[in-house]
Amino acid sequence: MGALRLAALCLAALTTLSQGVTYQPNWASIDSRPLPAWYDQSKLGIFVHWGVFSVPSISSEWFWERWQGEKPDPKVVQFMKDNYRPDFTYGDFGKEFTAEFFDADQWAKIFEASGAKYIVFVSKHHEGYTNWPSKYSFNWNSMDVGPNRDIVGELATAVRKTDLIFGLYHSLFEWFHPLYLQDKANNFTTQDFVARKTMPELFEIVNKYKPEVIWSDGDWEAPDVYWNSTNFIAWLYNESPVKDTVVTNDRWGIGVTCHHGGYLTCMDRYNPGVKQNRKFENAMTIDKGSWGFRRNAYLEDYLTMDELLETLIVTVSCGGNLLVNVGPTKYGMIAPIYEERLRDLGQWMQVNGDGIYGSHPWTYQNDTKNPDVWYTMKADGSSKDVYAFVLKWPTTDVLTLAAPAPTSTTKVTLMGYQAPLNFTKTGSQGVSVQLSEVQYALLPCEWAWTFKLTNIAN
Ligand SMILES: *[C@@H]1O[C@H](CO)[C@@H](O)[C@H](O)[C@H]1NC(C)=O
Ligand SMILES: *[C@@H]1O[C@H](CO)[C@@H](O)[C@H](O)[C@H]1NC(C)=O
Ligand SMILES: *[C@@H]1O[C@H](CO)[C@@H](O)[C@H](O)[C@H]1NC(C)=O
Ligand SMILES: *[C@@H]1O[C@H](CO)[C@@H](O)[C@H](O)[C@H]1NC(C)=O
Repeated sequence: MGALRLAALCLAALTTLSQGVTYQPNWASIDSRPLPAWYDQSKLGIFVHWGVFSVPSISSEWFWERWQGEKPDPKVVQFMKDNYRPDFTYGDFGKEFTAEFFDADQWAKIFEASGAKYIVFVSKHHEGYTNWPSKYSFNWNSMDVGPNRDIVGELATAVRKTDLIFGLYHSLFEWFHPLYLQDKANNFTTQDFVARKTMPELFEIVNKYKPEVIWSDGDWEAPDVYWNSTNFIAWLYNESPVKDTVVTNDRWGIGVTCHHGGYLTCMDRYNPGVKQNRKFENAMTIDKGSWGFRRNAYLEDYLTMDELLETLIVTVSCGGNLLVNVGPTKYGMIAPIYEERLRDLGQWMQVNGDGIYGSHPWTYQNDTKNPDVWYTMKADGSSKDVYAFVLKWPTTDVLTLAAPAPTSTTKVTLMGYQAPLNFTKTGSQGVSVQLSEVQYALLPCEWAWTFKLTNIAN
């Protein structure tokens, strides 16, 4: 046997060994799994909330709960009184979820144009309606009621024609499912809902659509043992068709969120502003008031590009990914206001994405003196480059950065701008970048400018 062949065999054995780790159904074992690298490198994903709640499309995706739940919202109750006959049920909204303009390829193109690298689509929200023809959601799924289409399937196929990675959101609980309410009345000592609904559904979507993100939610009323969470995740990591590439989050039962699972989401719009030791995701919405589409939203309810980019930059500086949510209309369009934000985001990423994708948190997340500057870093071998994201264009001709320590070979460039910029060292740490020659008309972006400092000493 030749030495080369032997080496190849050894390598194969090693590879098998590292892939052959078996995760146990407990959090210590599940937490020990390294996050597949694609996730951290991606930095930006798109979240999509679409379902029967997109039909009333007022209040939020929590419409049903706010109408008929434990603490009804008087405004929602009044809206139903004013506009619908007295015996109208939430189920009646189902047939109005028409989706007649839903074109999965068009959505995928818009998502790709945003610069995002993955999407997380709501397969089922707390209302229980499944956006795929589930065997376990009789007469309350997108094939039987409403679109008469396999929405998840169409989107999975369309997204896979692009470079985007396909992921699914799934709600563990359902507000009004009789089996869930029964288990709840039994203080979760019975598990009928999990055994007959939640688990079969999760196995079904993973086996059928092979999502590479399982974004779990709706966990908070019951402990993880009720949800069978560690058993499911161990199966996902050991045996599922996506075992080597899938990532999941932390919403798997009382006390688990922000502590265990895959990456941490902690709470909605989680943006800690300081570096985190564990990978996190800031899941947030362009419409500040809702994840689902709202017909009665005002322009001021939507984040501006300045706000959206600041959120992205601060999140990534601290080690997180940003998951930006859009809520399509019941007829299947991504409203132009959302489309514009996504395309603007993508245009910005084309110029500045080098400082975002595949970057790492630096020693400093924000500048020690300039509150409008946040940093990321990329290192390869001997050289370390720092990206300074400047949220407000300086009011003087000099940009002062207090944190970076330049070396004799450091160059400063404004990304997307022609020539390198002159700068001076300010003491052992800090640079003053000369902006007087920068021609305003040639600036590459309208919002948040990125200065790249190569070969930094610290
Ligand atoms: C319900 O279960 C929890 C633990 O899972 C326990 O702390 C609590 O006392 C129980 N409540 C009732 C009413 O049995
Ligand atoms: C929990 O998950 C395991 C597989 O990981 C499955 O075999 C078992 O049936 C599940 N339990 C329930 C109650 O669904
Ligand atoms: C920025 O950095 C300083 C330390 O230089 C720190 O005190 C501050 O909390 C940081 N965060 C924000 C949001 O400014
Ligand atoms: C850099 O400095 C040189 C010498 O002072 C000057 O000629 C040049 O225009 C400056 N370039 C920029 C981009 O500021």
